[in-house]
Order: sequence, then C-alpha cells, then structure tokens
Amino acid sequence: MLWPTIVSFALVSLCLARVYQATNQESFSSCPSSFSQVGDKCLLVGGGWKNWFEGDRYCRTLNAGMLSIRNQTEFSSLINSYLPEFAAYELELWTSGNSLGDAQTNYFWQSTGKEATYLPWATGEPKKANGECLSLTANFSMETGEVVLDEHRLTVRNCSLWGTVICETQVTQFKTELCLNPNAFHEAQIPV
Ligand SMILES: *[C@@H]1O[C@H](CO)[C@@H](O)[C@H](O)[C@H]1NC(C)=O
Ligand SMILES: *[C@@H]1O[C@H](CO)[C@@H](O)[C@H](O)[C@H]1NC(C)=O
Ligand SMILES: *[C@@H]1O[C@H](CO)[C@@H](O)[C@H](O)[C@H]1NC(C)=O
Repeated sequence: MLWPTIVSFALVSLCLARVYQATNQESFSSCPSSFSQVGDKCLLVGGGWKNWFEGDRYCRTLNAGMLSIRNQTEFSSLINSYLPEFAAYELELWTSGNSLGDAQTNYFWQSTGKEATYLPWATGEPKKANGECLSLTANFSMETGEVVLDEHRLTVRNCSLWGTVICETQVTQFKTELCLNPNAFHEAQIPV
C-alpha cells in the first residue's frame, strides 16, 4: 500500500517542480551594505572630511569610485533627492570630476573615465583659477532659525581642500529561481 502513495507523491512533486520553474523567477537588485540605491547606482556619503585624492582612495577601498553625473535627469530627480536625505547638512561634497593633467581643462569623471558632458554649475562657475577638482556645493540660510540648504551645484575647488565624499558603485542584479526536485542533489558553496 506504500507504493501508490510514493508514486502519487512523486507525481505531485514533479507537477509542483514544473509550476515553480515556470512562475517563480524573480529578479531584484541590491547594493553593498551602507550604500543606498539611487536609480541604477549605489551611493554612499561618508568617511569624514578628506581632500579629493584621499576621497578617491577612500571610495576605492569600498570597491567604488567618487560620484559621476551623467545627465540632468539623473542629477535633478535622483541625486538632488538623495542629498537632502543622506547629506542634509553637508555643504561641500567631492565628486570624481576633475581637470587634472588636462591642458585644455576639460572635465572628466575619474570613476567612469568619461568626459563630463553635463555640468550643473553654480552661478559664476567654472572659476578655473580656483583649482582642478569639482565639488557639489550648497549655500545655506538660517532665516527660519533652521539651517536650510539650497540645491547643490558644481564648483571648482582646490583639490587639496577638505570636503565630504560621495562614493558610487553599480547595483548588482540577482535572479531567484526556485526549483523543486526531490530526486536531485546540488552541491553548493556556502561562506563559512
Ligand atoms: C540619463 O542617463 C540614464 C543612465 O544612463 C539614462 O537611462 C537616461 O535615459 C538618460 N536621460 C536622458 C534624458 O538622457
Ligand atoms: C552661493 O552664493 C554665492 C553668492 O550669492 C553665489 O555666487 C554662488 O554661486 C552660490 N553657490 C551655489 C552653489 O549656489
Ligand atoms: C591649492 O592649494 C595649495 C595649498 O594651499 C597650493 O599650494 C596650490 O597652489 C593650490 N592650487 C591651486 C590650483 O590653486
């Protein structure tokens, strides 16, 4: 009487395996711990005050680079929504933008290696005589008794000055596939 039970259990399992394989595929994205997902990037503000070179090294220890800005959509709707929340009182934030070693003083994003085509300058910038590194700077007012920061904009700064650092790295995509198969063995590597 045991066999019919086992056979029907096996059949049910097989059906379930099909169903799960067909329907249970989920994909999700994730950022390294301490980073926040902002669009298709992971961002982190931290590490204390650093000059531009120290900031670059700091981000690299986290397998990241300093912030780059691709276009207006990314800057206005993503980065400028992130900053008030995660860098509420930070007036000076280093980006990876710089003109170091470039005779024509074009600006490049060090983290991507690409020339900067979208540069949201603060009023009166770029003041090239001030330096060769780009920081996101905000003015603040205390009219209401509270510190209120304006939108951050790019300013040219001496690379030796101190600022807070924003690191960026790519999000990692995962896909979950659940497959029920009572007759199979899997070998898995599990961190110890
Ligand atoms: C801005 O850059 C993102 C990422 O590369 C891209 O998906 C988006 O289409 C761009 N938007 C515009 C307006 O160029
Ligand atoms: C801050 O205010 C000064 C003086 O009004 C102005 O020149 C500068 O562009 C402002 N900076 C930003 C980032 O808006
Ligand atoms: C940056 O500051 C350092 C130290 O104050 C100074 O020696 C250097 O000339 C400055 N660089 C620029 C481009 O202004």
